[in-house]
Amino acid sequence: SNRIMLGPLVAAIDQGTSSTRFLVFNAKTAELLSHHQVEIKQSFPKEGWVEEDPKEILQSVYECMDRTCEKLTQLNIDVSNIKAVGVTNQRETTLVWDKQTGEPLYNAIVWLDLRTQSTVERLINKTPGKNKNHLKDKTGLPISTYFSAVKLRWLMDNVEKVHEAVLSHRAMFGTVDSWLIWCLTGGKNGGVHCTDVTNASRTMLFNIHTMDWDPELCIYFDIPMGILPKVRSSSEIYGLMKSGPLTGVPISGCLGDQSAALVGQMCFKDGQAKNTYGTGCFLLKNPVMSDHGLLTTVAYKLGRDKPACYALEGSVAIAGAVVRWLKDNLGIIQTSTELEKLAADVGTSYGCYFVPAFSGLYAPYWEPSARGIICGLTQFTNRSHLAFAALEAVCFQTREILDAMNQDSGINLSQLQVDGGMTSNRLLMQLQADILCIPVVKPSMPETTALGAAMAAGAAEGVSVWSLNPEDLTEVTSEKFEPQINPEESELRYARWKKAVQRAMNWET
Ligand code: G3P
Repeated sequence: SNRIMLGPLVAAIDQGTSSTRFLVFNAKTAELLSHHQVEIKQSFPKEGWVEEDPKEILQSVYECMDRTCEKLTQLNIDVSNIKAVGVTNQRETTLVWDKQTGEPLYNAIVWLDLRTQSTVERLINKTPGKNKNHLKDKTGLPISTYFSAVKLRWLMDNVEKVHEAVLSHRAMFGTVDSWLIWCLTGGKNGGVHCTDVTNASRTMLFNIHTMDWDPELCIYFDIPMGILPKVRSSSEIYGLMKSGPLTGVPISGCLGDQSAALVGQMCFKDGQAKNTYGTGCFLLKNPVMSDHGLLTTVAYKLGRDKPACYALEGSVAIAGAVVRWLKDNLGIIQTSTELEKLAADVGTSYGCYFVPAFSGLYAPYWEPSARGIICGLTQFTNRSHLAFAALEAVCFQTREILDAMNQDSGINLSQLQVDGGMTSNRLLMQLQADILCIPVVKPSMPETTALGAAMAAGAAEGVSVWSLNPEDLTEVTSEKFEPQINPEESELRYARWKKAVQRAMNWET
């Protein structure tokens, strides 16, 4: 036949906060062959609440797999060459479902959701010295609305169906990876209930030293351990696809999206770091503990018998989400791509500063009561300045993280590797270099999150020839953005940003 012979292919399901994608790579060259993307609806039933529909998430995965396989067939590429599928996902987002019916018992509570703010305040007030870092030694995390345990607690306390299902031993808890793997491997007919160490490390129920669920943490949050998924490494066979166009293909990679990007960017050496600009933005660096408001997270464990590697993480809640807000809530742009042009028209915020603390402030502040502000407005300010200030906000937030990382590690990062949807915005990349005063390096293949998950899946199945060895991969090219403004100007703008942040903090108190 005229089928193209490519050798083995590896694929990834990338289930992010704003969209789902399915991507297929050549296992030998890491070339992206085909992909499909579907937007995910978010609902905001009350102020501060953010939910998604678990069934829509699952449907979007099937739709992306179907469309991508159709595209491959049109390209004369045989779909049966796909030898392994990896899952990578928005982390922390919390689901509970019934294992007998397979039905979700409530919407997914998205990581950004603030409904647990009062619970979090109560928990912190109960700790000796009102210390939000009370559980940090075990978990690497501060007590915050961000992580799954408090969301799960809320579901058990407030949703009758969840409460009953827990009592009758029918409830299963999971983050998005667990939900998808369980459904794809058969669901109520024998689906595999598991998660990987990277996703588990974001629940606050996981001990990052023993690498397992921690009985004391489960008692602390009053969570029955029977509803938790089994914790596995990030690269091993979890189960086989039971339906859809890839029936029979093993699911053999699983990583939270930020960990997957670290693997995809091949940041395997100490001191290497990457920043991914998605709904939020997340800077991860190989490893140490933080005294400056950063998280310690499990970066990856690439095989059952392989060691676990850790990373320092600076999480920013709102990055791409600020663009969606300007579009959906203010209507000053129609599409996300318009933002770059609008901001470039003026090339300055004209002294306007925008702190998008919509979900409180994450790293390095961890202040749930912060709220967004726009300041420095004059008669002269227009939507272009606002657009510019929004882009600058993403860069300033990243600068705060980088400063904290440099302080924690005692070594200044000399360049930053970046990826994610927003990196196609060239103005943003230039601004980021200007504000960090170091070069920003963007790989020519920006789908590093999916690549990381596909690599992990392929490695478990023995089809990735480069076996996660960066030296084998010669194809990687990149683009470098050098700082163009002088450091004094950069410092001045950054100092003003910090003043604006102070005004956004403790808004109501
Ligand atoms: O911790 C949340 C993170 O995993 C979400 O990533 O790309 O959907 O903003 P993203």
